Amino acid sequence: EKGGFEHFMLKEIYEQPRSIKDCMRGRIYPGEGKVQLGGIKEFAEKLKNVDRIIIVACGTSWHAGLVGEYLIEEYARIPVEVEYASEFRYRNPIITEKDVVIAISQSGETADTMAAIEMAKERGATIFGICNVAGASIPRLTHAGVYTHAGPEIGVASTKAFTAQVTVLTLMAFYMAQQKGTITASKMIELLTELDHIPEKIQKALESNDIIKEVAEKIKDSRNCLFLGRGSGFPVALEGALKLKEISYIHAEGYPAAEMKHGPIALIDEEMPVVFIATQNSSYEKVISNIQEVKARKGKVIAIVTEGDTEVKKMADYCIEIPDANEAFLPLLATIPLQLLSYHIAVMRGCNIDQPRNLAKSVTVE
Ligand code: M6R
Repeated sequence: EKGGFEHFMLKEIYEQPRSIKDCMRGRIYPGEGKVQLGGIKEFAEKLKNVDRIIIVACGTSWHAGLVGEYLIEEYARIPVEVEYASEFRYRNPIITEKDVVIAISQSGETADTMAAIEMAKERGATIFGICNVAGASIPRLTHAGVYTHAGPEIGVASTKAFTAQVTVLTLMAFYMAQQKGTITASKMIELLTELDHIPEKIQKALESNDIIKEVAEKIKDSRNCLFLGRGSGFPVALEGALKLKEISYIHAEGYPAAEMKHGPIALIDEEMPVVFIATQNSSYEKVISNIQEVKARKGKVIAIVTEGDTEVKKMADYCIEIPDANEAFLPLLATIPLQLLSYHIAVMRGCNIDQPRNLAKSVTVE
């Protein structure tokens, strides 16, 4: 049942080229520059005029929501707020009939996310779901939705469900942009053509496994680990840190790289590994100066870099390459090595990979 893999988590990590393809199937038409999302098509008109989107979720799904915020604001120019479902439901938030709420949940059973949906629904909002488990409670509570089609995820640590959620949010961002006319037809063709090839690039990213194992060996005994990124690399850093703490029990934190000097920099010494998302995109130069700040304090730098990078390589202790891609698709690629890194560290520490202590696959109590 694990298909020759030692753990479900590893199997699910390796399934991602396929699961992302499944997620996009029948939804993108690169040649025509069109996105079709049958599940929400009745709401196409509503999306044209919506002036705010609220995303609610927990855990990894909340991280996917943060990526969604970047993409929807960038491409569809609709303001987005991303909320922890557990906070949102108890905060007497301002919601009106004009709002669209997107609830993200792999299991479709998370108690806080369900309660947040119920509240938003009572206040008249339109609710979309992004779920993996078909027919679960959340898809039944929402007005419409888009399934992630990642297939069953058994490992408690979410991997392929996360990248599928990000894929759906990417499709939604492009779909909304299409409705609103905020992306030109030629740009849409270009983006969708590239998106269509992302599964192959993910395959390529998986090929760094041996190098990642070597890096894991070097940092496996650390007590802490910092993950830093900027832009959409920030939610990737948060997700990398969550993965590491969940399965290896190493204390890890994700931070926007620029926030480091507002506190976490005090933690940096030769014992502290810092994982940077340092790919070549709009924040590349800024991230390089953040790396210098860490090196000046003798931190150990592990950098996720774009294939062929030379600048970061001069400074970092270890580099892990991922294929070059448009910034929109960076989260899908940069997440892969972080999943593998956590996996190998946890294996080396003798942890229970698929069922980490104290955690359940779906959190059905608040
Ligand atoms: O099923 P959901 O996506 O609603 O679950 C939300 C979180 O409980 C979940 O993402 C959790 O954080 C995972 N263990 C992360 O790997």
